[in-house]
Amino acid sequence: MSTPDHSQATALRTHLCGQLRPADIGSTVSVTGWVGRRREHGEHLAFVDLRDYSGIVQCVINDDIDVRSEYVLRITGVVRKRPEGTINDALPTGQVEIGDCEVEILRKAVPPPFPIDARADDVDENIRLQYRYLDLRRERMQRNLRVRSTVNAAIRQSMDQQGFVEVETPMLVPSTPEGAREFLVPSRKEQGSFYALPQSPQLFKQLLMVGGVDRYYQIARCLRDEDLRADRQYEFMQLDMEMSFVEQDDVLDAVSRSVLGAVEAVTGEQIDEIERITWHEAMNRFGVDKPDLRFGMELVELTDVFANTEFKAFAGATGEGGAIKGIRVPGGAGEYGRNQLDKLTDRAKSLGAKGLVWLKIVDGAGAAGLDSPVAKFFSDAEADEVRARTGGDAGDLVLIVADEWMTTCEVLGQLRNDLGRPPVHEGPYRFVWVVDFPLFVGVDRESGRPKPGHHPFTMPHPDDIGLLESEPLRVRSKAYDLVLNGWELGSGSIRIHEPELQRQVFQALGISDEEAERKFGFFLNPFEYGAPPHGGFAYGLDRLVAILAGEENIREIIAYPKTQSGADPLTNSPLPVDAKVLEELGIRVLPRVD
Ligand code: AMO
Ligand code: AMP
Repeated sequence: MSTPDHSQATALRTHLCGQLRPADIGSTVSVTGWVGRRREHGEHLAFVDLRDYSGIVQCVINDDIDVRSEYVLRITGVVRKRPEGTINDALPTGQVEIGDCEVEILRKAVPPPFPIDARADDVDENIRLQYRYLDLRRERMQRNLRVRSTVNAAIRQSMDQQGFVEVETPMLVPSTPEGAREFLVPSRKEQGSFYALPQSPQLFKQLLMVGGVDRYYQIARCLRDEDLRADRQYEFMQLDMEMSFVEQDDVLDAVSRSVLGAVEAVTGEQIDEIERITWHEAMNRFGVDKPDLRFGMELVELTDVFANTEFKAFAGATGEGGAIKGIRVPGGAGEYGRNQLDKLTDRAKSLGAKGLVWLKIVDGAGAAGLDSPVAKFFSDAEADEVRARTGGDAGDLVLIVADEWMTTCEVLGQLRNDLGRPPVHEGPYRFVWVVDFPLFVGVDRESGRPKPGHHPFTMPHPDDIGLLESEPLRVRSKAYDLVLNGWELGSGSIRIHEPELQRQVFQALGISDEEAERKFGFFLNPFEYGAPPHGGFAYGLDRLVAILAGEENIREIIAYPKTQSGADPLTNSPLPVDAKVLEELGIRVLPRVD
């Protein structure tokens, strides 16, 4: 990441603490910042590390001045070479110190609840968030905020160069049909009515296309009332964009440029192209729609191997709609004892499989070369073929699931991730576009209707429109995801801009004309005035920044995040409000049921 080249000098300082180098020896400088470590040095001298965001510098001060941890100082003195034996090569300013110091205390400070030392990473997260302003002083947080700022700047530059127009959209919006639970805001003027906070600017950005904006983008705040996880916050930021008169390749290209521009700005690494795979291939090979390509252990097709098997658990999955697949865990035979294999089996069952077959590969051919409670049901030919397909060698473990295709893929995909996936921020950046998502995912149990995969305005794949009525679950769509190291970075689609096709999709979803008008009329009626063909995308900035900053949790790259349980220990929110305020809003709160 490049450091800004504009001078950081102000009326109070000539240099930043972390800037001083041997070239400055002999100069009189003023630095400002907080007191880090302080060490007595006899002869009425003390060493004080002064810290600002750029780093620390050692200052030699007269020890009758009472300076303590986190006092805010201005120190003026002369840069000099450190004496032999005190040079610290691990520190960028480690060759020099400031001597002959004149110390001005700008503000005293009470002792902090935890050391602001970069190494104090084991501080309880609630305490860190309660004192976030102190936590932010630490090197890690300073670096992360700057990575974030660099990403934002690079994205703005890329979008601007590509002719995108930055437009802000409202935060008080109607409910939208995007799926996540919304935060509601009561209207005072119209008691009993509510705004929602936007899950995304989806509707507004599409209307911008009707409005002729052509290329829109926004670094947009989105809000969703979901359970929080490492990659999820209530409030998060998207790079949101929409383009007119485009096809899928145009959108993928524009998004790739902005993401890769951000990667280069932070890491200097140039990635020329992002590979693509279809959703079907992603499921078949990796068992997830957000495949992590950093490691192997791909799912291996075994259905045909067991076409005539004697083994009952497999025989049921060899027909139409079934699949038998396996993964190889290199060296797993020795690593996994009976107890762990039972746990893996339980895990597979909890994920929806009927069971899990495990095979330890030992020396020798045929079924005798497999150590497994079910090896006796395998013919020699089956056993040999499993070894050949999975590439299994003596000492490896093979896990096999037989079920409906989707279940087989999903269970093994999850086991593959459980057993092999490195932490998200480790190793190379492996981006992949997943394209041709199905238009519908499964069937709603209650209504029996197919459920939209992305949202109901997603364009079906032109080759599959004929299947909308007869086999809706086989219809592919012009929806695509961008995946980085196994995290879904973003999603988008080409939208339906044409009413007849929209009606057909609503029909497949079981949404009547009347229901469509009621729910989506305010959004779709404007299309009657001439909607251009359009499509777009949104990616999660928090997720991208976390990975680029080497963090596993997006909380680490957000200045003021919520805890896992959704609270903010800094401001103590959420909080009850005065009865009077509620009354004005026409709201009565029911007693809590705990
Ligand atoms: P989608 O709902 O897939 O698509 O969201 C896009 C991206 O936003 C990020 N994201 C989140 N990040 C942090 N915390 C969350 N709770 C959270 N939820 C989502 C993810 C995700 O991939 N309007 C559509 C896009 C479009 O069709 O143009 C949309 O919002 O990185
Ligand atoms: P069962 O015939 O149910 O006693 O199962 C024999 C072994 O096969 C057990 O180890 C089960 O976990 C496993 N098993 C059963 N059904 C399946 C399946 N559909 N896919 C993979 N393994 C299975």
